Amino acid sequence: MLDKVARIAPGESVLVHAAAGGVGSQLGQAARLLGAGRVVGTVGSHAKIETAKGFGYQEVVLREEHPSGFDIVIDMVGGTTRRTGIDALNPMGRLIVMGNASGADDVGIPANELWFTNKTMSGFNLAAFSAAFPAEAGRALRRAVAAVAAGDLLLRVEELTLDQAAEAHRRIESGTTTGKLVLKVP
Ligand SMILES: NC(=O)c1ccc[n+]([C@@H]2O[C@H](COP(=O)([O-])OP(=O)(O)OC[C@H]3O[C@@H](n4cnc5c(N)ncnc54)[C@H](OP(=O)(O)O)[C@@H]3O)[C@@H](O)[C@H]2O)c1
Repeated sequence: MLDKVARIAPGESVLVHAAAGGVGSQLGQAARLLGAGRVVGTVGSHAKIETAKGFGYQEVVLREEHPSGFDIVIDMVGGTTRRTGIDALNPMGRLIVMGNASGADDVGIPANELWFTNKTMSGFNLAAFSAAFPAEAGRALRRAVAAVAAGDLLLRVEELTLDQAAEAHRRIESGTTTGKLVLKVP
């Protein structure tokens, strides 16, 4: 997503929402590995600020602070965050839509606004990408696994047993988890 869709270039600034979550905890680190300059994360509560900083973000702020001036904004929260994501872009900036964790109704961005401001909005969906481009997805996965093995990507994975599935869903729906939850199947 960062290289093929966001087309990240060395030195570019990147804003990642939900920076302590499963996806957000990886994206800031991946952006830095790909040569990003300023990499900032947003979170929904004070409690997650230090957690997100532990995942390599240079700055972490509350989402309501609306940081701006980015070449790339990654939005997996949706709702008002999508609207403020467009506002946070520099001219020639790219907003990547890849989730709707807030459960908000879809937010439309007027095409004319993109036209007048030289901004781009793109989408990325891993399942659809993997189905359409399996070899490319495999290459990206191998790169990611090699980065983890080399210690360049820090993962936080909490394991629960399969009979704790309902508890796992409750935690994810509450928005309080950090990193990934994994159900272990015996
Ligand atoms: N497009 C793709 O290929 C792709 C791949 C994986 C995941 N996703 C999507 O990306 C999103 C994030 O995935 P994830 O694995 O990072 O999930 P996650 O770890 O559960 O993170 C989601 C975060 O969204 C924030 N959030 C804001 N409003 C929320 C609400 N009403 N309820 C729950 N959370 C809320 C919370 O962070 P704060 O406390 O910081 O607000 C929460 O921790 C999901 O929507 C998922 O479907 C997309």
